[in-house]
Amino acid sequence: MHKATKATLTIGDTTIELPVLTGTEGERTIDISALRKQTGMTTFDPGYVNTAACQSAITFLDGEKGILRHRGYPIEQLVKECEFVEVAYLLVHGALPDKRQREDFSSKLNRHSMLHEDMRFFFRNYPERAHPMAILSSMAISLSTFCPEVEEMDVDAQVDEAMTTLLSQLRTIAAFSYRKFEGKPFVYPDHKLRYCENLLKMMFDSPVEPYELDPVLVRAMNALLIIHADHEQNCSTSAVRLVGSSGANLFASIAAGICALWGPKHGGANQAVIEMLEGIRRDGLKVSDVVTRAKAKDNPFRLMGFGHRVYKTYDPRARIAKKLCDQVLERLGIKDPLLDIALELEQAALADDYFVERKLYPNVDFYTGIVFRAMGIPTDMFTVMFAIGRLPGWIAHWIEWMNDPYQRIGRPRQLYVGPVTQDVVPLAKR
Ligand code: ACO
Repeated sequence: MHKATKATLTIGDTTIELPVLTGTEGERTIDISALRKQTGMTTFDPGYVNTAACQSAITFLDGEKGILRHRGYPIEQLVKECEFVEVAYLLVHGALPDKRQREDFSSKLNRHSMLHEDMRFFFRNYPERAHPMAILSSMAISLSTFCPEVEEMDVDAQVDEAMTTLLSQLRTIAAFSYRKFEGKPFVYPDHKLRYCENLLKMMFDSPVEPYELDPVLVRAMNALLIIHADHEQNCSTSAVRLVGSSGANLFASIAAGICALWGPKHGGANQAVIEMLEGIRRDGLKVSDVVTRAKAKDNPFRLMGFGHRVYKTYDPRARIAKKLCDQVLERLGIKDPLLDIALELEQAALADDYFVERKLYPNVDFYTGIVFRAMGIPTDMFTVMFAIGRLPGWIAHWIEWMNDPYQRIGRPRQLYVGPVTQDVVPLAKR
């Protein structure tokens, strides 16, 4: 981080100088950390649209140019060259693993992949159609009760133990939630299989219909998890950092991240996209009418899978997901009418002034649901798949934040607009 220039702020008769910090990609931010001390004032920035809450060396994204890089590596190259486990290693450790490091990491994940048998019984008591995101978040925090020793560990030891447990067991939990949802018996992880192979096998294998791993689908699952692996200070990652800043352990912080991801404006959008496309097909709606409805100010409906806080151009992850759609559908010989609707919707929106002026483009969630659906994953599980992908990003940010010399408890200020002092009237007189 480079401090060269200064910004000058004048409020009435007072003028103060504020340092301007420059990141490695030339992004600039005004350091206001001494503002309240110097002026008695705070800044007002709902949704943190203009606020850099931390420095970070994990992910760079340029929303104007549609660039996404993890530790300097473009997302397109990571998808092409790496398995998800390598990208997870990269995010957490800061460098791509060599062959030996990758194998060590994989076998560590394998060793940790079995759930405590008592946890298996937790699944029994959820209601039949329990949303798998609710199961995933409560299971993430439940994992901490089986690793009480993490509370006593320093950050490094906690990271090693909790990170491997989370990365491998949440995948097992995700697969078990799916099996619970489907009312099918659980399939245990197999140490001979790689991470994504295991995930597919645990989800789809059956004693009466063995699941054959298809390299195209394994590759697609790796790619899907990689494109979700990190996205700097998004809502769920910020939740992970905020909860972690109170001193809560990694499990508690990740459970908070899962809950934040669930919302339809964030990771829940992949489910919302498919529900929207299904609604269009079921009700025989015209795409042009849907676009008109999304633009109407008096209607809360939004085009799901469109728009992004940072991207003001095509999301590079959506481009990758769109290609995956073609590859997976072709491999499985599926002709999905929802893909045709999605393509028509994209074309209509991108030609419409409302979307053009606001720079609203397809985001990562617009096409991923179609790929998940083709692979046989039910709609309610889409956000769980996103969470499994985002896990290494959350962990990497939690570690970075714990080791950041600027780290303090997250505690924003507010502008109070409630009643001024008033006296309590006794109950009998109210
Ligand atoms: N459909 C219609 N209009 C939209 C959409 C949309 N999908 N997204 C934004 N707009 C409009 C808003 O109404 C607003 O219009 P206005 O200026 O006339 O008031 C303008 O575009 C700016 O939108 P904001 O809500 O201020 O943008 P913000 O950055 O706060 O929100 C968000 C970003 C939440 C992603 C938003 O675009 C949205 O709700 N999209 C649909 C949900 C979605 O796909 N979420 C997934 C995001 S990616 C991810 O989290 C993994």
